[in-house]
Amino acid sequence: MKRFLRTLAVAALLAFCVITATQAKRGAETKDNNEMHWSAFDKDKLIQTSFNNQIDATKPMVALTFDDGPGKYTDRLLDVLEKYDARATFFMVGKNISAYPETVQRMKSLGCEYGNHTMNHKELTKEKADSIKKQIEKTDQALYEITGDHIYLVRPPYGSENAKVHEAVEAPFIMWSVDTWDWQRKNAKIVEEYVLHKVKDGDIVLLHDIHKTTVEAAEKFIPQLIEDGYQLVTVSELARARGVKLADDDTYYAFYPE
Ligand code: NI
Repeated sequence: MKRFLRTLAVAALLAFCVITATQAKRGAETKDNNEMHWSAFDKDKLIQTSFNNQIDATKPMVALTFDDGPGKYTDRLLDVLEKYDARATFFMVGKNISAYPETVQRMKSLGCEYGNHTMNHKELTKEKADSIKKQIEKTDQALYEITGDHIYLVRPPYGSENAKVHEAVEAPFIMWSVDTWDWQRKNAKIVEEYVLHKVKDGDIVLLHDIHKTTVEAAEKFIPQLIEDGYQLVTVSELARARGVKLADDDTYYAFYPE
């Protein structure tokens, strides 16, 4: 009898191991499938849920965009955005997403928008189609692992695009209408004055939150823009407020009023 019980116990243990292993394998397969179908999520829903209904479409608005982060100054920037109830879009590099998970979570809680700026800041026109896809999908995966969200908008590094890149990436490409040259100027006062001098209704402004001087400039121009009557909105909010439905194979520079 004792021997029978022991055999039964071993059999049960074996069965348990087989079932667990099968489930683990199935889990891995599901994950792989998610990675492969980056572009299959519901983009309309993503934009719908992130849209801030407080926006007045008849009033001036601007989309501030910050590239190459997140970095060590991004939280300071988020402090300013939070203080003034402003929003921005962050075109993030995949490897930095994984390095700053809490900062990335905070962006969402403040109503900011995520953007894809590739995994390693690659100039996509110089890559093969497979590599282009991987650069975009891995960045999306990095964000998904932290937030459960996907990234819709893409900004190719250096604004570098061609037909091959568009074919590999099914997403709207978001460029800019105001280039602050903040990464080269590295001077808070000059960047602040440039933004305030240049910006008009419907602009998309290019900035980089990896530079301390840019964040210092933002601490000044964000309250000033609001005082000047601008609503600081995300790229998707700006497009929607101006009646533009973003298309997967198009490139956008600004959303000016008609
Ligand atoms: Ni960049």
